[in-house]
Amino acid sequence: MGTIDRRTLLGGTAGTLAVVGLPLPLPLHAAPRGAGLRGLPHGLAPRGGVPARLPVVDPSCALLNRGWLFHEGDIVPPAPLTHDATYLNAKAGNARGAAAMDHDDSDWASVTLPHDWASAQPFVESANVSQGYRPRGIGWYRRTLRLDPADRGKRLELHFGAIATASTIWVNGSVVARNFSGYNAITIDLTPFARFGDELNVIAVRVDATQMEGWWYEGAGLYRDVWLAKRSAVSIATDGVHCDPRRGDGGWQVPVAVTLESIARGEATASVTAELIDPAGKVIATATGQARVTPLGQASVALTLPVAQPALWSIETPTLYAVRVTSEAAGGRDERRVPVGFRTIRFDADQGFFLNDKPVKLKGVCLHQDHAGVGVAVPDALLEWRLQRMKDTGVNAIRCSHNAQADAFYHLCDRMGFVVMDENRVFNPAPENMAQLEWLVRAHRNHPSVILWSVFNEEPMQGTEAGVEMVRRMAARVHALDGSRPVTAAMNGSFYDPQNVSSVVDVMGFNYYQGDYDKFHALNPAKPSTSSEDTSAYMTRGAYATDKAANVMTSMDTEAAPWGATHRQAWAEIAKRRFVAGGFVWTGFDYHGEPTPFTWPSVASFFGILDLCGFAKTAYDIHRAHWIDDEAVVGIAPHWTWPGREGQPVELLVTSNADRVRVVLNGRMVGEQAVDRIMGNAFTVPYAPGRIEAVALRGGREVARAVHETAGPAVALRLTPARATMLGDGEDVVAVTIDAVDAQGRHVPTENRATRFTVEGATLIGVGNGNPNSHESEKAPARALFNGLAQMLVQAEVGRGTVTIVTQAEGLRAARLTIPRIAAEPRAQVAATPGGAFIAGWRRSPAFAASPDPALAPSADDNNSWAFTRSGTPTPPEPARSFRLYRAAIPVRRRVMAEGGVLAFAAIAGLAKIYADGRLVATKTEAAPGPVNVAIPAGAKTVAVLVEAAANQPSGITGVVRVLTKG
Ligand code: GAL
Repeated sequence: MGTIDRRTLLGGTAGTLAVVGLPLPLPLHAAPRGAGLRGLPHGLAPRGGVPARLPVVDPSCALLNRGWLFHEGDIVPPAPLTHDATYLNAKAGNARGAAAMDHDDSDWASVTLPHDWASAQPFVESANVSQGYRPRGIGWYRRTLRLDPADRGKRLELHFGAIATASTIWVNGSVVARNFSGYNAITIDLTPFARFGDELNVIAVRVDATQMEGWWYEGAGLYRDVWLAKRSAVSIATDGVHCDPRRGDGGWQVPVAVTLESIARGEATASVTAELIDPAGKVIATATGQARVTPLGQASVALTLPVAQPALWSIETPTLYAVRVTSEAAGGRDERRVPVGFRTIRFDADQGFFLNDKPVKLKGVCLHQDHAGVGVAVPDALLEWRLQRMKDTGVNAIRCSHNAQADAFYHLCDRMGFVVMDENRVFNPAPENMAQLEWLVRAHRNHPSVILWSVFNEEPMQGTEAGVEMVRRMAARVHALDGSRPVTAAMNGSFYDPQNVSSVVDVMGFNYYQGDYDKFHALNPAKPSTSSEDTSAYMTRGAYATDKAANVMTSMDTEAAPWGATHRQAWAEIAKRRFVAGGFVWTGFDYHGEPTPFTWPSVASFFGILDLCGFAKTAYDIHRAHWIDDEAVVGIAPHWTWPGREGQPVELLVTSNADRVRVVLNGRMVGEQAVDRIMGNAFTVPYAPGRIEAVALRGGREVARAVHETAGPAVALRLTPARATMLGDGEDVVAVTIDAVDAQGRHVPTENRATRFTVEGATLIGVGNGNPNSHESEKAPARALFNGLAQMLVQAEVGRGTVTIVTQAEGLRAARLTIPRIAAEPRAQVAATPGGAFIAGWRRSPAFAASPDPALAPSADDNNSWAFTRSGTPTPPEPARSFRLYRAAIPVRRRVMAEGGVLAFAAIAGLAKIYADGRLVATKTEAAPGPVNVAIPAGAKTVAVLVEAAANQPSGITGVVRVLTKG
């Protein structure tokens, strides 16, 4: 990979970052593409700025990412045996085991979302190869949630961004969702299950990650954001605003379709206002409408916002407007702010893709969602950095292979200027999967970045009548929800079968089969086409010779899967055909799992243009030469540190978008050639230590230069952050590159030493080095360099301060890095509710005129004589003095069981005697409602409360009941 002489690039304002051992001036403002510290592979110099703050589309939402408890492994409660237990097992709110409200979670681990438990697993040879040899298994999450009494009457919704993979969700002991995909959002109407005030809510989630939907690493757990929405009783539905701008004859308009829903008790009239807000924040169009919404019903309002000449959204200038929709009705107001972009898209059968009537070749990559160190739990700031690395590569299009990505992904693509092929996961028009497809379209159809819906990837039924019928139904559903974007399917063959799905998609998608482009086009001259997937070349970052016995692939772009092609060959086929709209390289980044063509000990893929950490392989320079037009680029491979190979010929690959390239060794020109922009230029140079340079020329003038210098032995470590500042918002993440340098401060590309580090002011959330064969932990504060590089991911703490990282290695000078953490408002988070045990429900006896035997209990088969009541619910008055017994099991808490504890009644109304396992343990002598704390002995299992109520007085257990440890 090439590096660029820092003298030519370190322009602009330079500040100083503390790098012990090597204090170097670094640019504190946006680093130009290709900028580098001495010998540091380019693109890794710190950038300025701060991460994008993503739009708050629904201001009624707050994140529910903190305060979760996690248990790895399944918890299977014993099956009910008695009549009573069987009867109760079938009732709402009575989930058993870890889903039960009172389950003992006191020894579960505290976790903050996003969380992927698979990424912390060791690599195990007997585990699934495609999932990266990581055991996934089953896990449980629980969260206690306090809802304010003021939230009564609001529509309360839980949103899980996605859960890997099959999940069951309970709220307060009732199943509220079963979901069978690891990629779609899950929306739950919490309202009917909600408890308020001190009566806490318990959310329990069982995640079955033994289920697989893919043949890549899918992670495990609550790996995306979770949100809690609190909306007015008449509110805008989730994904209930469709506002995708359209160009008409006399200008543009934004059709705004709003779906309202109501939990109000009576019919309501809602006034709906839609406003178009320009990038400066000015309202430039307004429309209003009204709708009657029936209780628990839905209604829609259709409005139009005209705008004559909006600034267009494009890849180069991704201008965003916003549509603000408000609904007002008795009982409150609701609001959405949806970013929109004005652009037209068109696929032409002969001329490819057009954006705003201009031809745009799709220079695309396929992306899975994981990164080194964190698996699929990728924080937004890291996702943004990954996309920035794609921009640096010259990418303008991304295929979501083979599933929906996180919400933030689409917002970032809108904002950064990528076009997106969004893809459905499971090919099946049955209701459950159709609902997933509908969700995909509803959730993403307002994003200007999305240009194409893909209903499948490589399905064996693609050449059958059934396949055609399935695609027909799915495409029809997509078109019904979105009239503006075409549907494709990523086919790998069967193009000429009498029944094949190419006949029922709008755009033909070729996975590989590049030799069929022309034949298919000739037979289907009216059908637009694109490569939906190509390349599948293999490279190990920083390796320049293939060693199949060691599972290493050269980065000289000579290795590819039999069904694929090298990076250069694949693009050559696409670039020369106008009718092929573009390509999607498999893949932009390496990913965990699918280590094709190898198996164990390889645990990650070799396909990426960048490795698992986002470090550049030679493919990065190759594609920059292919794809970047607005800047002269040049790259040179391999590096120039080959001790022992003096005098031997080295094959160089020089890649550039200039006219000519000249290779210079130690100041002497060794060759010059006219640039082959696609295949690159080969030079053979006898190795001599020193400095090898590739000089790119246009009109005889130097326009870019790539340099490698021979490094001596490593003497020190170096730390380089991807960004010069961090936000103190508790979420920001910066990738920090660790490398070793020689006595002259040159990057040592061959160093593989183990490093270890400490981090203050931030949390280390993961580590990696891009070696697909490494079995080191991705969570430990230690990582070996791999071909010169390793990466740590640090997540900022909250508030202003400093992040300090120190890294050490045997025999090398340590490096210390400080990154200023600037004050930033954290995103709204629902406060963590202290959990703990509480008695939620009781059996209540009928009223007696005289005090009953406190041992009285309903028989095991009697679910009728005694009522079921909840803590906090007063028992209605009787006309005369009366007695009642309340019985409950004491929730098991290991410590309380062992040492005894306290039952803390927030309020009992009436006189009371309290018994633990039949023994009197407390007496309440005041009739007025009041708190009672009762010591219970070790091993106590049941509690009975005998309440004496005065005539015409409410009585009973009128507050929450907590189970506490002693002291
Ligand atoms: C394709 C498939 C991808 C990946 C790739 C590897 O056939 O769509 O998901 O498996 O092969 O070459």
